Amino acid sequence: MERQTIYGKFEPYLEYILEDFGSRIQEASKKAKEETGFKLFEHYIARVKTADSMSEKCLRKGLPQTAESALKQIRDSIGIRIVCGFVDDIYRTIDVIKGLDGVSIYNEKDYVSNAKPNGYRSYHLILEVETDFEDCLGQQPGKYFIEVQLRTIAMDSWASLEHQMKYKNDIKNPERIVRELKRCADELASCDLSMQTIRDLIAEGGDNE
Ligand code: GTP
Ligand code: MG
Repeated sequence: MERQTIYGKFEPYLEYILEDFGSRIQEASKKAKEETGFKLFEHYIARVKTADSMSEKCLRKGLPQTAESALKQIRDSIGIRIVCGFVDDIYRTIDVIKGLDGVSIYNEKDYVSNAKPNGYRSYHLILEVETDFEDCLGQQPGKYFIEVQLRTIAMDSWASLEHQMKYKNDIKNPERIVRELKRCADELASCDLSMQTIRDLIAEGGDNE
């Protein structure tokens, strides 16, 4: 018999749930493009957290190695990152997500309007989706969590580079590094505002000077 991972018999469902959600979002973006001329986002990145890294996360958080820990206590087994061209598109996409059938908001953090002290910006949603599959509490239809991070291209580039550098633990002058990273984040946010303004001007019919 095949040995099961921390996800147990629910593991194969995760890819299906991710795919179904993804195709509904892509469809909505296509429709938005037809109606407004602007797509909702530039990039869509999706992953199911590997069983090994989920096991490690549960261990780190002091949770038992069970499917319930992996799928109910931890809520990012299914993760999606949506990278938008403009700040407004983040909010347009959130409205679309909130309107999808069987999707409800479990938790919502707006680090776009309220950046983290280090300068990190993104909009985080934890969604609870109703599915055709049984879940680990024996419910049918079962409920599964999906973590969605929405960012602009500029916010995404900052987060990727900051994430890479965070894991270099031989940093000599941490206060200066933190300060410089924060400054870059704020400069990028200022560019995002300018880009949004430019798009709004174009939408209004060009400059009136
Ligand atoms: P977990 O980290 O999943 O336990 O969640 P949390 O309760 O700390 O939630 P939060 O919304 O703060 O962060 C969730 C995810 O957002 C992280 O796993 C990262 O992918 C991303 N994130 C949050 N803060 C930062 C940050 O300062 N820098 C970068 N690069 N990513 C961040
Ligand atoms: Mg996480």
